[in-house]
Amino acid sequence: MTPSPTARAAAPPCTLVIFGAAGDLTKRLLVPSLYDLAAAGLLDGSMRVLGVDRADLTDASWAEGITRSLHELAADPGAEFNAGTIRDEVWNPLRARLSYLKGDITEASTFEALRAHVSGNAVFYCAVSSRFFAPIAEGLGRVGLLEEGEGAFRRLVVEKPFGSDLASARALDAELLSVAGESQIYRIDHFLGKETVQAILALRFANRIFEPIWSAEHIDHVEITAAETLGVEGRGHFYEQAGALRDMVPNHLFQLLSMLAMEPPESFAEKPVRDAKAKLLAAVRPVQPGDAVRGQYGAGVLNGEPRAAYRAEPDVAPNSETETYAALKLTIDAPRWEGVPFYLRSGKRMTAHRTEIVVTFKPASHALFAEADGAAPAPNRLVIQIDGEKGLCTELQTKRPGPGQTLAPVAEVYRHDDFFQRTPNVGYEMLLHACMSGDATLFQRADSIESAWAVVEPLIEAWAKGGPEPYPAGSDGPAGADALLARDGRRWTKLGDDPDARVDGPAAEPAA
Ligand code: BG6
Repeated sequence: MTPSPTARAAAPPCTLVIFGAAGDLTKRLLVPSLYDLAAAGLLDGSMRVLGVDRADLTDASWAEGITRSLHELAADPGAEFNAGTIRDEVWNPLRARLSYLKGDITEASTFEALRAHVSGNAVFYCAVSSRFFAPIAEGLGRVGLLEEGEGAFRRLVVEKPFGSDLASARALDAELLSVAGESQIYRIDHFLGKETVQAILALRFANRIFEPIWSAEHIDHVEITAAETLGVEGRGHFYEQAGALRDMVPNHLFQLLSMLAMEPPESFAEKPVRDAKAKLLAAVRPVQPGDAVRGQYGAGVLNGEPRAAYRAEPDVAPNSETETYAALKLTIDAPRWEGVPFYLRSGKRMTAHRTEIVVTFKPASHALFAEADGAAPAPNRLVIQIDGEKGLCTELQTKRPGPGQTLAPVAEVYRHDDFFQRTPNVGYEMLLHACMSGDATLFQRADSIESAWAVVEPLIEAWAKGGPEPYPAGSDGPAGADALLARDGRRWTKLGDDPDARVDGPAAEPAA
């Protein structure tokens, strides 16, 4: 097996050009990630960071502003950045290599000016609204900044959303590929920066106890959930256009799906991993509207607090038909998954924050045991906890102490934080480091993105007419989503309970 090319060595020297340098993503995630990488010794000592934005700033005032926000984020227990205090010996050398270029990315003169600032290796990071991705690529291409001469690399990083449907994703790809090679384009999906997402491959391929049972022969069905308690958090303007389906499903949820369901790659090198994911996504059947449900949160109560309806959020139309919840049933046309449904759901303002995959196994092959009423015992389940709680929970049956052969459900729990020290991480460190190091394994390839859009395309068309089903804020979602599983004789895993308490809990001893 080829070792992972992302082995932890300092990234090669480069200039990181950030478009959108005065924006939220830069402040909240990119600069803190650079700090964490510097603290871990993973940046080259000569790396430069050049911010580009329309804001009227100078080298000094941009550096001053992001230093201030770095300190503020470090002091905020609610922020993703958990570095504690900012160490001058880490930050000051990096700060000394920050510079700023004032410029409008829609104007050719900005790229002309940029040319004078960039030589050698460069990574161009589009931390801006997606409508600027193509103009930035075009601007860079026009002045030759994407040409890789004399061993120097030039890379372009684009954030999600990558298009808003299949046609726009294809058009964006065509525009990017007209000025850069596929190997120069790094399409980010931040779910791939999560340790717990990457750990799915270790779970599947480094554990003999799971490897042989990972198929339709043993697995009954799979649920993939990304439930958030958050609402749209002031992003109404963006969300009205996006909705839950586009915002979460063909990108984040499909990343979880492909990690869980792809065939083993022959190594961890970039191509085999991306090929395996692409093959899986190409095998997912386009979802028909009858196999999907959409919802929109109304007013409700969450953690004892009253919450307003989606339609009452800022920048949301009072008669909005945008969905804030999507659930779908997927079929994968691959021998490994013959007859195994994959149920996906994602929603805002739900009862609990939980990103997880629940794998439900088939009943034991020889039905020796039955419940008192003759029913089969509850199936084994494996809960892979990606976010919220992080870890694994295996639900098993054991013998209840006492006379007779009575079963009791129990849970075996592994919590990530009990085994691993928390390291400062906002989730972009690994992605930035991989991109600067030229490892695109954790980034999305054009074919996978297009396959993912093709799967949800029938829903995009059908849902454009509106009609989401209401659900109260603080609930598990709309009733239609329960009906989607009920018609297959199944139920969603409840969101509200503690995962390890979801089994029936320590049952009372039977009376002697
Ligand atoms: C973003 C979506 O891509 O992912 C947000 O635009 C969503 O709407 C977020 O809240 C979820 O990411 P995470 O890492 O907080 O689960």
